[in-house]
Amino acid sequence: MENSFRLKDRIVFITGASSGIGKSCALSFAARGAHLILAARRIERVETLATELARAHGIQTLPLELDVTNRKAVFDAVQDLSPEWRKVEVLVNNAGKALGLDKSYETKIEHLEGMMETNVKGLVHVISAIVPGMVERNQGHVIQIGSTAGRWVYPGGTVYCATKHAVRALNEGLKMDVHGTNVRVSSVDPGLVETEFSIVRFDGDAERADKVYADMTPLSPHDVADAVLWCATRPPHVNISEILLMCTDQSHATLINRQTSDS
Ligand SMILES: NC(=O)c1ccc[n+]([C@@H]2O[C@H](COP(=O)([O-])OP(=O)(O)OC[C@H]3O[C@@H](n4cnc5c(N)ncnc54)[C@H](OP(=O)(O)O)[C@@H]3O)[C@@H](O)[C@H]2O)c1
Repeated sequence: MENSFRLKDRIVFITGASSGIGKSCALSFAARGAHLILAARRIERVETLATELARAHGIQTLPLELDVTNRKAVFDAVQDLSPEWRKVEVLVNNAGKALGLDKSYETKIEHLEGMMETNVKGLVHVISAIVPGMVERNQGHVIQIGSTAGRWVYPGGTVYCATKHAVRALNEGLKMDVHGTNVRVSSVDPGLVETEFSIVRFDGDAERADKVYADMTPLSPHDVADAVLWCATRPPHVNISEILLMCTDQSHATLINRQTSDS
C-alpha cells in the first residue's frame, strides 16, 4: 500500500456510470476520495448517484448527460469542463453493449451500428477528447473495459466480439501512442458479469437475460471494479497492461459450469 498511487482528490471520469460495472467503479473510486465525473445517457440515474456519493464520501461529483456515439457532444462536454475538472487523472472507458445474439450475416443493421458506434467509435471519441490533456500534463491513466469477447469469439457474438477485439487493438495501440509519457493504459477484460448487459442485449427480455446467469455464480460488477481500482492504484512506474478475469464457473467463452438442481 505504501507505494500505491493515491486517488484522493484526483479527477476520475467514468463513462457508462449509470449501471453495472461503471456504477460499481464509481462506488470504489468514491470510497478512495476521488472526485468523479459520472457520464451516461440516463442523466437522472447519474444525478442520483452523484448526489449519494458526494454525501457519503465528502467528494465532488459531476453528473454528465453524454452519448459517447456523438463525437461533437463528447468534445463539447470535455471542452466545457472547468479547468479543474478537465485535469482527468483516470478515465474509465466503460460504456458499451452487446445487441442480439445472431449470426453475423443475420445481424440487424441497427444492432451492427449500435455496437460499432458505442464500443469502437464511442471509445475513440472519449479517448480523443481526454488523452491529449493527459499527454500535455504528462500524467494520467486510461482504463478500458474490454471483454473475454476481445480474445475469443463465440456463436452468436461475432459482431460484438469483433468490437471487443477492436478494443483490445485500441488498447495496445494507445499505449504505443503515449509511449515516452507517464500516461498509463490498461484493459480490464471480464467474462460473464451480472449487470443490465444481457437485458440490453435481449432488448428488455429479463427472463431471457436471467438464463445467462442461471445455475452458476457470475462475476459481480464489484469484482470488476476491484480489478479496475487495483490497476489505478499501482505505483506510477507500474502499468498493468491487461487483466483477464472470469468467475470460477467460467473457463472459456462458452465453457460454463452450471449446477442444476438434479446434478
Ligand atoms: N456484463 C458482462 O458480462 C460484460 C462482460 C465483459 C465486458 N463487459 C463490458 O462492460 C462494459 C459495461 O457493461 P455492463 O456489464 O456494466 O452493462 P450495463 O449494466 O448495461 O451498463 C452499460 C453502461 O453503458 C452505458 N452506455 C451504453 N450506451 C451508451 C452510449 N451511447 N453513451 C454513453 N453511455 C452508454 C449505459 O448507460 P446509459 O444507457 O445510461 O447511457 C450503462 O451505464 C461494456 O463495455 C461491456 O461490453 C460486460
